[in-house]
Amino acid sequence: MLVILKQDNEGINLQAAQLIASAVKKKPATTLGLATGSTMIGLYQHLARMHKEGTIDFSQVVTFNLDEYLGLPPTHPQSFCHFMHEHFFRHVNVQARNIHIPDGTIRGNYEQYCASYESAIQEGGGIDLQLLGIGRNGHIGFNEPTSSIASRTRLKVLSRETLDDNAKFFDPGEESPRCAITMGIGTILEARKILLLATGEAKAEAVAKSIEGPITCAVSASALQLHPDVTFLLDEPAASKLTQRDYYHRVLEMTALLTPEKLS
Ligand code: F6R
Repeated sequence: MLVILKQDNEGINLQAAQLIASAVKKKPATTLGLATGSTMIGLYQHLARMHKEGTIDFSQVVTFNLDEYLGLPPTHPQSFCHFMHEHFFRHVNVQARNIHIPDGTIRGNYEQYCASYESAIQEGGGIDLQLLGIGRNGHIGFNEPTSSIASRTRLKVLSRETLDDNAKFFDPGEESPRCAITMGIGTILEARKILLLATGEAKAEAVAKSIEGPITCAVSASALQLHPDVTFLLDEPAASKLTQRDYYHRVLEMTALLTPEKLS
């Protein structure tokens, strides 16, 4: 587990964009696992800029989004499909046929639909680089606390904390979704490489528990400790509850010296 500490948001966005750009340069037909949420917006802006400047070409890239709210059509302003088009896809050249986002409009046959999403990932050769944010409750994707570490793509009921966090994005009186379709923790752990971004003090406790706490279903992101190639990109406030910050800085210095390719 590599923990990269940056002073601010901007440092994180830039480094994440560079890591993604170099993955795509090395393998133009990279399969990216993508996330939504406010943490990702700056990163997508950098990727869009790099594409405009001609330093990154997404024409062969395949994408799979982590999750989508159940009940929201792709055109709904709060759907993750809308978010992805608004913040990323309309600015870059990912081919429409290569974009996969769980369908929030399905009704019934959920298991069959989720199995087909899993199959599409497998048939595409698996995810090379999975991007993650983290919820205040430690969720990754919408794997709320108590999710099984072996879980696969499925229907998930959103926790009270997530519902409260999301309520502000919906119009007053509008009912916000209570369920989502999400890749499972087991699905996420099969990605070859994982990059988790966290900013702000509200994430500090979840980040500390995920990196330094025990592996527990109470904090879904703690399952990432089981993965051999995870990078946490954190700003100062999000890292503020970590007890081993000095050690992470020293690991980073040695990584830059001995295996610099891990950082760019
Ligand atoms: C979104 C997702 C979620 C978010 C998390 C953090 O696709 O999978 O796990 O990454 O809720 O959201 P923000 O960045 O809005 O704090």
